[in-house]
Amino acid sequence: MRLPRGSHLVVASHNPGKVREIKALLGPHGIEPIGAGDLGLPEPEETATSFSGNAELKARAAAIASGHFALADDSGLSVTALDGAPGIYSARWAGATKDFSTAMARIERELRDKAATDTRAWFTCALTLCSPHGDMQSFVGEVHGHLTFPPRGVNGFGYDPIFIADGMDLTFAEMEPAAKHAISHRAKAFEKLLHSGVFDESL
Ligand code: IMP
Repeated sequence: MRLPRGSHLVVASHNPGKVREIKALLGPHGIEPIGAGDLGLPEPEETATSFSGNAELKARAAAIASGHFALADDSGLSVTALDGAPGIYSARWAGATKDFSTAMARIERELRDKAATDTRAWFTCALTLCSPHGDMQSFVGEVHGHLTFPPRGVNGFGYDPIFIADGMDLTFAEMEPAAKHAISHRAKAFEKLLHSGVFDESL
């Protein structure tokens, strides 16, 4: 699959934090994506059982509804001592009001209830690109690290204030956005997407 020169690309997400990061990652490649929210596209229910399954479901829905290429990101935080939770339920742990302080407090409480000393965790990002005809390609990236409480930092979004990537001292929310973008799960999935040759570099 290859995006023809000048194609529109819809980011199949209503999460402003994700749309912002995806725009920053695609900007250097001459692609100006449009958010699904800006086009008034509905958000499909995430009924799949894997990150890639949910990314495919969202990419296909946006591509078919808009008639453009669509890129979806399904991502989340998995905690080793919680058997991978919240995982694909990362957004849902924040509830309808998308309150991540509650979701981070729940992780801290569940670790305490289990008397867990293992704080390892990892972020996963599955990216799916879908053509207007429904052809799809998916790419997965992970970043491993550990959790820290209380949450620290104001940058980023979601669970960034409690996650410290391996080899770092700062949480993702304390790092400069460009420094997070250089090592994140999303950056790794993007690297695979870009190296697959789907974007014509002469765009
Ligand atoms: P979904 O992919 O829309 O189901 O949502 C994934 C959720 O995972 C987001 O709402 C965030 O809570 C969390 N998440 C995904 N990527 C990141 C990240 O880079 N930093 C912090 N939280 C993230």
